[in-house]
Amino acid sequence: MVSYKELGLVNTKDMFAKAVKGGYAIPAFNFNTMEQMQAIIQAAVETKSPVIMQVSKGARKYANPTILRYMAQGAVEYAKELGCANPQIVLHLDHGDSFETCKSCIDSGFSSVMIDGSHFSFEENIKLTKEVVDYAHQHDVTVEAELGVLAGVEDEVSAAESHYTKPEEVIEFATKTGCDSLAISIGTSHGAYKFTREQCTVDPETGKLVPPPLAFDILEAIEQKLPGFPIVLHGSSSVPQDEVDTINQYGGKLPDAVGIPESQLRKAAKSAVCKINIDSDSRLAMTAAIRKHFAENPGDFDPRQYLSPARENMKKMYIHKIIEVLGSNDKL
Ligand code: G3H
Ligand code: 13P
Ligand code: ZN
Repeated sequence: MVSYKELGLVNTKDMFAKAVKGGYAIPAFNFNTMEQMQAIIQAAVETKSPVIMQVSKGARKYANPTILRYMAQGAVEYAKELGCANPQIVLHLDHGDSFETCKSCIDSGFSSVMIDGSHFSFEENIKLTKEVVDYAHQHDVTVEAELGVLAGVEDEVSAAESHYTKPEEVIEFATKTGCDSLAISIGTSHGAYKFTREQCTVDPETGKLVPPPLAFDILEAIEQKLPGFPIVLHGSSSVPQDEVDTINQYGGKLPDAVGIPESQLRKAAKSAVCKINIDSDSRLAMTAAIRKHFAENPGDFDPRQYLSPARENMKKMYIHKIIEVLGSNDKL
Protein backbone atom coordinates (compact mmCIF):
# COMPACT_ATOMS: atom_id res chain seq x y z
CA MET A 1 0.00 0.00 0.00
CA VAL A 2 1.45 3.36 -1.08
CA SER A 3 -0.29 6.50 0.13
CA TYR A 4 -0.39 9.46 -2.24
CA LYS A 5 0.73 11.61 0.69
CA GLU A 6 4.13 9.86 0.62
CA LEU A 7 4.44 10.89 -3.03
CA GLY A 8 3.74 14.57 -2.26
CA LEU A 9 0.36 14.57 -4.01
CA VAL A 10 -2.88 16.12 -2.74
CA ASN A 11 -6.54 15.12 -3.08
CA THR A 12 -9.13 17.40 -4.71
CA LYS A 13 -10.99 18.57 -1.61
CA ASP A 14 -9.46 21.99 -0.87
CA MET A 15 -8.66 22.57 -4.52
CA PHE A 16 -12.31 22.21 -5.55
CA ALA A 17 -13.66 24.22 -2.62
CA LYS A 18 -11.42 27.14 -3.61
CA ALA A 19 -12.22 26.80 -7.30
CA VAL A 20 -16.00 26.80 -6.75
CA LYS A 21 -15.71 29.85 -4.51
CA GLY A 22 -13.27 31.62 -6.81
CA GLY A 23 -15.18 31.04 -10.06
CA TYR A 24 -12.50 29.10 -11.91
CA ALA A 25 -11.85 25.46 -12.83
CA ILE A 26 -8.92 23.12 -12.22
CA PRO A 27 -7.34 21.67 -15.38
CA ALA A 28 -7.55 17.88 -15.61
CA PHE A 29 -5.12 16.83 -18.31
CA ASN A 30 -4.82 13.17 -19.36
CA PHE A 31 -1.36 11.76 -19.85
CA ASN A 32 0.29 8.55 -21.05
CA THR A 33 3.85 9.64 -21.74
CA MET A 34 6.78 11.38 -20.09
CA GLU A 35 6.60 14.28 -22.55
CA GLN A 36 2.94 14.95 -21.72
CA MET A 37 3.72 14.83 -18.01
CA GLN A 38 6.67 17.22 -18.40
CA ALA A 39 4.58 19.66 -20.44
CA ILE A 40 1.74 19.56 -17.89
CA ILE A 41 4.08 20.29 -14.99
CA GLN A 42 6.00 23.02 -16.83
CA ALA A 43 2.69 24.72 -17.72
CA ALA A 44 1.29 24.41 -14.19
CA VAL A 45 4.48 25.79 -12.62
CA GLU A 46 4.82 28.68 -15.07
CA THR A 47 1.21 29.72 -14.53
CA LYS A 48 1.19 28.96 -10.77
CA SER A 49 -1.81 26.68 -11.23
CA PRO A 50 -2.99 23.64 -9.31
CA VAL A 51 -3.32 20.70 -11.68
CA ILE A 52 -4.90 17.27 -12.00
CA MET A 53 -2.88 14.69 -13.93
CA GLN A 54 -5.27 11.96 -14.91
CA VAL A 55 -4.90 8.51 -16.38
CA SER A 56 -7.53 6.26 -17.86
CA LYS A 57 -7.51 2.52 -17.32
CA GLY A 58 -6.03 2.19 -20.81
CA ALA A 59 -3.32 4.75 -20.05
CA ARG A 60 -2.45 2.87 -16.88
CA LYS A 61 -2.03 -0.31 -18.84
CA TYR A 62 0.05 1.51 -21.47
CA ALA A 63 2.39 3.23 -19.04
CA ASN A 64 2.45 0.51 -16.32
CA PRO A 65 1.04 1.23 -12.83
CA THR A 66 4.43 1.11 -11.09
CA ILE A 67 6.04 3.49 -13.55
CA LEU A 68 3.06 5.82 -13.22
CA ARG A 69 3.44 6.00 -9.47
CA TYR A 70 7.06 7.07 -9.83
CA MET A 71 6.13 9.48 -12.62
CA ALA A 72 3.64 11.16 -10.28
CA GLN A 73 6.25 11.37 -7.54
CA GLY A 74 8.70 12.66 -10.15
CA ALA A 75 6.16 15.26 -11.25
CA VAL A 76 6.01 16.68 -7.73
CA GLU A 77 9.81 16.77 -7.43
CA TYR A 78 10.12 18.23 -10.93
CA ALA A 79 7.67 21.03 -10.05
CA LYS A 80 9.79 21.86 -7.00
CA GLU A 81 12.94 21.80 -9.10
CA LEU A 82 11.30 24.28 -11.48
CA GLY A 83 10.81 26.66 -8.56
CA CYS A 84 7.35 25.82 -7.22
CA ALA A 85 7.81 25.43 -3.46
CA ASN A 86 4.37 23.95 -2.77
CA PRO A 87 2.92 22.27 -5.87
CA GLN A 88 -0.71 21.17 -5.77
CA ILE A 89 -0.78 18.07 -7.95
CA VAL A 90 -3.48 15.39 -8.01
CA LEU A 91 -3.04 11.94 -9.56
CA HIS A 92 -6.53 10.95 -10.66
CA LEU A 93 -8.02 7.80 -12.19
CA ASP A 94 -10.18 8.79 -15.15
CA HIS A 95 -13.28 6.66 -15.87
CA GLY A 96 -12.64 3.91 -13.34
CA ASP A 97 -14.93 1.06 -14.35
CA SER A 98 -15.01 -1.12 -11.24
CA PHE A 99 -14.41 -1.17 -7.51
CA GLU A 100 -11.29 -3.30 -8.11
CA THR A 101 -9.70 -0.79 -10.50
CA CYS A 102 -10.39 2.08 -8.10
CA LYS A 103 -9.02 0.12 -5.13
CA SER A 104 -5.90 -0.82 -7.03
CA CYS A 105 -5.28 2.86 -7.87
CA ILE A 106 -5.93 3.99 -4.29
CA ASP A 107 -3.55 1.31 -3.04
CA SER A 108 -0.82 2.42 -5.44
CA GLY A 109 -0.68 6.16 -4.83
CA PHE A 110 -3.63 7.83 -6.56
CA SER A 111 -5.08 10.75 -4.61
CA SER A 112 -8.40 10.82 -6.45
CA VAL A 113 -10.46 8.32 -8.43
CA MET A 114 -13.45 8.45 -10.71
CA ILE A 115 -15.96 5.65 -10.61
CA ASP A 116 -17.96 5.84 -13.80
CA GLY A 117 -21.24 4.05 -13.22
CA SER A 118 -23.06 6.29 -15.68
CA HIS A 119 -23.97 3.40 -17.96
CA PHE A 120 -25.65 1.48 -15.09
CA SER A 121 -29.15 2.06 -13.73
CA PHE A 122 -29.53 4.90 -11.19
CA GLU A 123 -29.69 2.40 -8.30
CA GLU A 124 -26.71 0.35 -9.48
CA ASN A 125 -24.68 3.52 -10.05
CA ILE A 126 -25.42 4.60 -6.46
CA LYS A 127 -24.47 1.18 -5.06
CA LEU A 128 -21.15 0.97 -6.94
CA THR A 129 -20.22 4.60 -6.27
CA LYS A 130 -20.94 4.25 -2.56
CA GLU A 131 -18.77 1.15 -2.35
CA VAL A 132 -15.85 3.08 -3.88
CA VAL A 133 -16.48 6.16 -1.69
CA ASP A 134 -16.49 4.05 1.48
CA TYR A 135 -13.09 2.58 0.63
CA ALA A 136 -11.56 5.78 -0.76
CA HIS A 137 -12.55 7.93 2.20
CA GLN A 138 -10.82 5.54 4.60
CA HIS A 139 -7.63 6.62 2.80
CA ASP A 140 -8.52 10.31 2.40
CA VAL A 141 -8.85 9.83 -1.36
CA THR A 142 -11.55 11.86 -3.12
CA VAL A 143 -14.11 10.35 -5.50
CA GLU A 144 -15.68 11.69 -8.68
CA ALA A 145 -18.91 10.04 -9.84
CA GLU A 146 -20.94 10.49 -13.02
CA LEU A 147 -24.65 10.93 -13.68
CA GLY A 148 -25.89 11.20 -17.24
CA VAL A 149 -24.18 9.77 -20.31
CA LEU A 150 -21.78 11.50 -22.70
CA ALA A 151 -21.69 10.40 -26.30
CA GLY A 152 -18.37 9.03 -27.55
CA VAL A 153 -15.76 6.68 -26.23
CA GLU A 154 -14.93 6.61 -22.54
CA ASP A 155 -12.13 4.07 -22.43
CA GLU A 156 -13.85 0.70 -21.80
CA VAL A 157 -17.19 2.52 -21.66
CA SER A 158 -18.73 3.78 -24.88
CA ALA A 159 -22.09 5.25 -25.80
CA ALA A 160 -23.56 6.19 -29.15
CA GLU A 161 -25.97 8.73 -27.70
CA SER A 162 -25.78 11.21 -24.88
CA HIS A 163 -28.36 11.51 -22.13
CA TYR A 164 -28.32 14.76 -20.23
CA THR A 165 -28.07 14.59 -16.45
CA LYS A 166 -31.48 14.86 -14.80
CA PRO A 167 -31.31 17.67 -12.21
CA GLU A 168 -34.06 16.01 -10.16
CA GLU A 169 -31.72 13.05 -9.47
CA VAL A 170 -28.60 14.83 -8.25
CA ILE A 171 -29.51 15.45 -4.60
CA GLU A 172 -30.43 11.83 -3.95
CA PHE A 173 -27.33 10.64 -5.81
CA ALA A 174 -24.88 12.92 -3.99
CA THR A 175 -26.45 12.26 -0.59
CA LYS A 176 -26.66 8.49 -0.92
CA THR A 177 -23.17 8.01 -2.40
CA GLY A 178 -21.18 10.64 -0.46
CA CYS A 179 -19.17 11.39 -3.64
CA ASP A 180 -16.91 14.46 -3.59
CA SER A 181 -17.66 15.71 -7.10
CA LEU A 182 -20.09 14.93 -9.87
CA ALA A 183 -19.46 14.68 -13.62
CA ILE A 184 -22.53 15.73 -15.56
CA SER A 185 -23.73 15.52 -19.14
CA ILE A 186 -24.79 18.85 -20.67
CA GLY A 187 -23.73 18.38 -24.28
CA THR A 188 -19.97 17.81 -24.18
CA SER A 189 -18.62 14.62 -25.70
CA HIS A 190 -15.37 12.67 -25.84
CA GLY A 191 -12.87 12.64 -28.68
CA ALA A 192 -12.07 14.89 -31.66
CA TYR A 193 -15.43 14.30 -33.37
CA LYS A 194 -17.89 15.60 -30.84
CA PHE A 195 -20.73 16.40 -33.20
CA THR A 196 -21.96 15.21 -36.56
CA ARG A 197 -22.34 17.64 -39.46
CA GLU A 198 -26.11 17.43 -38.98
CA GLN A 199 -25.85 18.62 -35.36
CA CYS A 200 -23.79 21.69 -36.37
CA THR A 201 -24.30 24.83 -38.37
CA VAL A 202 -21.69 25.99 -40.88
CA ASP A 203 -19.79 29.27 -40.54
CA PRO A 204 -20.40 30.93 -43.92
CA GLU A 205 -16.99 32.66 -43.91
CA THR A 206 -14.68 29.80 -42.90
CA GLY A 207 -16.83 26.84 -43.91
CA LYS A 208 -16.01 25.34 -40.49
CA LEU A 209 -18.62 23.54 -38.39
CA VAL A 210 -20.15 25.45 -35.46
CA PRO A 211 -21.31 23.08 -32.70
CA PRO A 212 -24.59 23.39 -30.78
CA PRO A 213 -24.37 25.26 -27.43
CA LEU A 214 -24.04 23.46 -24.11
CA ALA A 215 -27.20 23.04 -22.00
CA PHE A 216 -26.48 25.79 -19.48
CA ASP A 217 -30.08 25.60 -18.24
CA ILE A 218 -29.38 22.07 -16.96
CA LEU A 219 -26.13 23.19 -15.34
CA GLU A 220 -27.98 26.02 -13.57
CA ALA A 221 -30.73 23.67 -12.39
CA ILE A 222 -28.08 21.29 -10.97
CA GLU A 223 -26.31 24.18 -9.21
CA GLN A 224 -29.60 25.20 -7.62
CA LYS A 225 -30.15 21.67 -6.32
CA LEU A 226 -26.58 21.31 -5.01
CA PRO A 227 -25.29 24.79 -4.20
CA GLY A 228 -21.48 24.88 -4.02
CA PHE A 229 -21.09 21.21 -4.93
CA PRO A 230 -18.10 20.55 -7.26
CA ILE A 231 -19.26 19.78 -10.80
CA VAL A 232 -17.02 18.19 -13.46
CA LEU A 233 -17.11 18.48 -17.25
CA HIS A 234 -15.71 15.65 -19.33
CA GLY A 235 -15.23 15.78 -23.08
CA SER A 236 -14.10 19.40 -22.99
CA SER A 237 -11.47 19.60 -25.69
CA SER A 238 -11.97 22.47 -28.10
CA VAL A 239 -10.30 20.65 -31.02
CA PRO A 240 -8.29 23.73 -32.10
CA GLN A 241 -8.78 24.18 -35.83
CA ASP A 242 -5.20 25.39 -36.39
CA GLU A 243 -3.90 22.05 -35.06
CA VAL A 244 -6.44 20.12 -37.14
CA ASP A 245 -5.41 22.12 -40.21
CA THR A 246 -1.70 21.43 -39.54
CA ILE A 247 -2.39 17.71 -39.18
CA ASN A 248 -4.38 17.66 -42.43
CA GLN A 249 -1.80 19.80 -44.24
CA TYR A 250 0.98 17.36 -43.37
CA GLY A 251 -0.68 14.14 -44.41
CA GLY A 252 -3.25 13.56 -41.67
CA LYS A 253 -6.92 12.88 -42.21
CA LEU A 254 -9.22 14.51 -39.67
CA PRO A 255 -12.16 15.80 -41.68
CA ASP A 256 -14.86 17.66 -39.74
CA ALA A 257 -13.15 17.32 -36.35
CA VAL A 258 -14.97 19.71 -34.03
CA GLY A 259 -14.90 20.48 -30.29
CA ILE A 260 -16.45 22.66 -27.59
CA PRO A 261 -15.89 26.40 -28.17
CA GLU A 262 -13.59 27.86 -25.52
CA SER A 263 -16.07 30.67 -24.81
CA GLN A 264 -18.57 28.04 -23.60
CA LEU A 265 -15.98 26.42 -21.36
CA ARG A 266 -14.95 29.78 -19.93
CA LYS A 267 -18.57 30.43 -19.02
CA ALA A 268 -18.83 26.97 -17.38
CA ALA A 269 -15.58 27.48 -15.44
CA LYS A 270 -17.06 30.57 -13.79
CA SER A 271 -19.92 28.44 -12.39
CA ALA A 272 -19.87 25.40 -10.09
CA VAL A 273 -17.88 23.56 -12.74
CA CYS A 274 -14.53 23.20 -11.00
CA LYS A 275 -12.79 20.47 -13.06
CA ILE A 276 -12.53 20.46 -16.84
CA ASN A 277 -11.17 17.37 -18.63
CA ILE A 278 -8.93 17.79 -21.65
CA ASP A 279 -7.29 14.92 -23.48
CA SER A 280 -7.93 15.17 -27.22
CA ASP A 281 -6.43 18.68 -27.50
CA SER A 282 -3.15 17.33 -26.14
CA ARG A 283 -3.21 14.48 -28.65
CA LEU A 284 -3.86 16.96 -31.46
CA ALA A 285 -1.08 19.33 -30.33
CA MET A 286 1.37 16.44 -30.14
CA THR A 287 0.38 14.93 -33.48
CA ALA A 288 0.39 18.28 -35.32
CA ALA A 289 3.92 19.10 -34.13
CA ILE A 290 5.26 15.64 -34.99
CA ARG A 291 3.65 15.56 -38.46
CA LYS A 292 5.03 19.03 -39.24
CA HIS A 293 8.48 18.07 -37.97
CA PHE A 294 8.64 14.94 -40.11
CA ALA A 295 7.37 16.77 -43.20
CA GLU A 296 10.05 19.43 -42.79
CA ASN A 297 12.82 17.09 -41.56
CA PRO A 298 12.31 13.77 -43.32
CA GLY A 299 15.79 12.60 -42.37
CA ASP A 300 15.22 12.83 -38.62
CA PHE A 301 14.86 9.64 -36.62
CA ASP A 302 16.00 10.56 -33.10
CA PRO A 303 12.81 10.74 -30.98
CA ARG A 304 14.19 13.79 -29.17
CA GLN A 305 14.14 15.69 -32.46
CA TYR A 306 10.39 15.31 -32.94
CA LEU A 307 9.26 14.91 -29.34
CA SER A 308 10.83 18.23 -28.27
CA PRO A 309 8.58 20.34 -30.54
CA ALA A 310 5.65 18.08 -29.61
CA ARG A 311 6.26 18.74 -25.90
CA GLU A 312 6.63 22.48 -26.55
CA ASN A 313 3.37 22.59 -28.49
CA MET A 314 1.49 20.75 -25.74
CA LYS A 315 2.92 23.07 -23.11
CA LYS A 316 1.76 26.09 -25.13
CA MET A 317 -1.74 24.58 -25.34
CA TYR A 318 -1.85 23.78 -21.59
CA ILE A 319 -0.78 27.33 -20.70
CA HIS A 320 -3.41 28.76 -23.02
CA LYS A 321 -6.13 26.61 -21.41
CA ILE A 322 -5.08 27.50 -17.88
CA ILE A 323 -4.99 31.26 -18.48
CA GLU A 324 -7.60 31.87 -21.17
CA VAL A 325 -10.18 29.16 -20.48
CA LEU A 326 -10.05 27.81 -16.92
CA GLY A 327 -8.70 30.81 -15.03
CA SER A 328 -6.69 28.66 -12.60
CA ASN A 329 -3.48 30.68 -13.01
CA ASP A 330 -2.02 32.35 -9.90
CA LYS A 331 -4.17 30.19 -7.62
CA LEU A 332 -1.42 28.33 -5.75
O1 G3H B 1 -12.31 9.97 -21.57
C1 G3H B 1 -11.41 9.31 -22.08
C2 G3H B 1 -10.04 9.84 -22.10
O2 G3H B 1 -9.86 10.70 -23.19
C3 G3H B 1 -9.04 8.72 -22.07
O3 G3H B 1 -8.96 8.09 -23.27
O4 G3H B 1 -9.17 5.67 -22.71
O5 G3H B 1 -8.10 6.41 -24.84
O6 G3H B 1 -6.94 6.73 -22.64
P1 G3H B 1 -8.26 6.64 -23.38
P1 13P C 1 -11.76 15.14 -24.61
O1 13P C 1 -11.80 13.94 -25.51
O2 13P C 1 -12.74 16.17 -25.05
O3 13P C 1 -10.39 15.70 -24.46
O4 13P C 1 -12.25 14.66 -23.16
C1 13P C 1 -11.36 14.06 -22.27
C2 13P C 1 -12.05 13.49 -21.09
O5 13P C 1 -13.19 13.76 -20.78
C3 13P C 1 -11.27 12.57 -20.26
O6 13P C 1 -12.04 11.99 -19.27
ZN1 ZN D 1 -14.06 11.63 -19.75
